[in-house]
Amino acid sequence: MLIRNLFLISVVATASFAGDLTGNWLAASPNGDGTTRKIWLNLKQQDGRITGTIRATQFFYTISESTGGPDRFTLTATMPDEGHERRATYELIVSGNDLSVALVRNNIAGTPVPAHRVAASDGALPARVTMPALHKVPDNGLARTPPMGWNSWNKFNRLVSDEIVRGVADSIASNGMRDAGYVYITIDDTWEGERDAQGILHSNNKFPDMKALADYVHGKGLKLGLYSGPGPTTCEGYEASHGHEVEDARTWASWGIDYLKYDWCGARMLYSDADEQPLYQRMGDALAASGRKIVFSLCQYGRLDPWKWGPDVGGNLWRTTGDISDRWESMERIGFDQGRLAPYAKPGHWNDPDMLEIGNGGMTDTEYRTHMSLWSMLAAPLIAGNDVRDMSQAIREILLNKEVIAIDQDKAGKQASRASQSGEHEIWTRELDGGDKAVALFNRGKQTASITVKWSSVGFAKSPSHARDLWAHKDLALTGAEYTAEVPSHGVMLLRVRK
Ligand code: GLA
Repeated sequence: MLIRNLFLISVVATASFAGDLTGNWLAASPNGDGTTRKIWLNLKQQDGRITGTIRATQFFYTISESTGGPDRFTLTATMPDEGHERRATYELIVSGNDLSVALVRNNIAGTPVPAHRVAASDGALPARVTMPALHKVPDNGLARTPPMGWNSWNKFNRLVSDEIVRGVADSIASNGMRDAGYVYITIDDTWEGERDAQGILHSNNKFPDMKALADYVHGKGLKLGLYSGPGPTTCEGYEASHGHEVEDARTWASWGIDYLKYDWCGARMLYSDADEQPLYQRMGDALAASGRKIVFSLCQYGRLDPWKWGPDVGGNLWRTTGDISDRWESMERIGFDQGRLAPYAKPGHWNDPDMLEIGNGGMTDTEYRTHMSLWSMLAAPLIAGNDVRDMSQAIREILLNKEVIAIDQDKAGKQASRASQSGEHEIWTRELDGGDKAVALFNRGKQTASITVKWSSVGFAKSPSHARDLWAHKDLALTGAEYTAEVPSHGVMLLRVRK
């Protein structure tokens, strides 16, 4: 999301252009799945300058600066977003009667897309929906432990397809992941097609028959999830559920969908953060009325404290941060910042620090073990984001460590918090059902370090009776009031400890 926000846009025109650019234009480029990526430009040309608006994917900009012309204009377009100003740069190229539009990213103009004139109303923002009075959506009874599964976005992005999802389901059903608890297979953004005259949303060409796919996934003992959002479009500019919540929830129920990730992105064209709760409630109500039990995953990047109102809109989990990326710094920044949210996690309702990057190649196996340990301490959803059809043995062992998964899935549902910190060395604890504790010794530093845990500092009056190293799968020899471990750089020692 952040990277997308750095994009710039540009528009180009030639000197021989006969008229002016005033009017409504559409530049559409094929997505390769039967849908198009659309840029609408509602332009006014006066005194050699261009003003107006540009709507592209999730954004609706006002043109704030126009330079160049008459055959090539560079437009700066801006959009307010909760105290920030988003900026995009487009180049307009005029050649005879033809206009092309290019988005400028990092100062480099992309391939120009031909534009054509369309009716004045084409691409206009829809009316805002009526905001419902707030009420409590009944708990759906799902996700008593943090959801586990797989999501297409981190690895496959826009390339996800029916074939990939079937292959992933085959692998998860046969490589031990399903039996370890990874059951929700979720198709993220770019599955969506067009809405028909009756308002029913269809999947695009990458997913020829969503019901047949759901049947296939169910036949493997797994569940199928989809993605949408409360705005007119998704982040990638695909059709979302704005004003169609009830029809969409019914459609998904008829296909056999079990999980919905609902992403704020496109809603910002029309709404502010203060509108989040009623808009998410509209979908929470629609899911509750759909006739099918569907896990409801809120994705609004932790804006407006969703941990305070997520359960009221029927949410089973809510993102607490912006998007993770497959780098130590990203995982570390997100993961170690979650302790303050511990009071809000409980069975049925979870903080979601975003999906796993384990196995995507940007971190070492040691770092991925820290990622898995930290997310399990946090009672975070364990949503794998790698190509599970093709994993190394080391990655398989990380994702399938049942002793670590048991910490994540502990039925008391109590999220860990930081017990102590000394520079880059941290000790976190989590209370488990039946009185055990999980204790994690993290080394965020660049060198191997000796980290000592004093049992009294993590709530044990004297030396515990038993402690087990969950990565070495070995019981520790306990020697007294404290325990010292050698922890590699960016590594972890994860223990399960008994009184
Ligand atoms: C947002 C979400 C991501 C992913 C993309 C898809 O950035 O935070 O997790 O769903 O949208 O466009």
